Amino acid sequence: MELELEQWGGEELLIRRDARTGAWIGIAIHSTVRGPAVGGTRLRRYASVHAALVDVLRLSAGMTVKNAVAGLPCGGGKAVIAVPGPLTDGEREALLERYAEMIDGLGGRFATGPDIGTGEADMDVIGRRTVHVFCRSLGQGGSGTASPWTAAGVQAGIRATLRHRTGSDDLAGRQVLIQGLGEVGGVLARLLHDAGARLLLADVERERVRATVAALPGAVEVTAEAVIGTECDVFSPCAIGGVLNAETIPQLRCLIVAGAANNQLLEEADAERLRTAGILYAPDFVINSGGIMRGIGAERLGWSEAQIDARIQAIGETLEEIYRASERLDISTAAAANRLAQEALTPVEVATPPG
Ligand code: PHE
Repeated sequence: MELELEQWGGEELLIRRDARTGAWIGIAIHSTVRGPAVGGTRLRRYASVHAALVDVLRLSAGMTVKNAVAGLPCGGGKAVIAVPGPLTDGEREALLERYAEMIDGLGGRFATGPDIGTGEADMDVIGRRTVHVFCRSLGQGGSGTASPWTAAGVQAGIRATLRHRTGSDDLAGRQVLIQGLGEVGGVLARLLHDAGARLLLADVERERVRATVAALPGAVEVTAEAVIGTECDVFSPCAIGGVLNAETIPQLRCLIVAGAANNQLLEEADAERLRTAGILYAPDFVINSGGIMRGIGAERLGWSEAQIDARIQAIGETLEEIYRASERLDISTAAAANRLAQEALTPVEVATPPG
């Protein structure tokens, strides 16, 4: 895919090669219209520096619409750290400290949190050099991992999407195929299992699937290669982006797609493809916003746990609103969600929390 900055429509892109590790660091500030740009830090190996930059641009745009629809007083941004290979603990910490100094140099225009490849321990390291970080450990004054809240939002979203598509939100006996059993997918599997769903589980790491299947009686392993084309009620992508595309959509055998991964659609046209196939698609940036609601809500907005839970359950209502708009306007659900985001893309007044 090409790196098209005009099409990106963002504000600021910072790229640096970290000489000591050979890692490439990219920070993309897509929008600060609603407030400082907030988005996670993704740390992984990429096929090329170019691929990492394409990823960070797309992910940052996703955060703008996510935070807008979530009603958070934040703009959208994202960071990637494209590492050349495995790092020692010491190398990783030092790299994260240098990265944190880059964030600090942005003077608050960007703040980060965890994403694929990073967790609360990494946020603690970043917190040594900048205050612009969410989800540090509880011991360091943060709100800890946000993944269980992302998973709870996805579950609420699966229910709402099933209700709209089939008339019932009962998960008992429903076949749910989860692709990716990481921080979010793993918790989601447990939640859905407890709600009586019949789980089909896949991950590129075989060991991880085996461990999860062993812990959840009745769950069945699906190989990573067999995910697309496996029959189910709910397909829940919880790994990397781009899984919904011109090649995969015609092979899908599900009623709905509702998962935690960011940027599930490879291109805009894929939303139409899903609609034509009769598959109800829960726009990723709406259904997966539970984690950032929790991080920002707890650390900046003074929300209580009850308020956070209510917001996360309301993800289901937002999706229902999007599904109705998509029918009324005869557009895809992704287009309807984007309309909602554009309407919300205006500056917000932030009330300072008490205390
Ligand atoms: N990875 C999260 C997302 O994509 C980003 C995040 C979570 C940022 C929690 C801050 C706090 O939404």
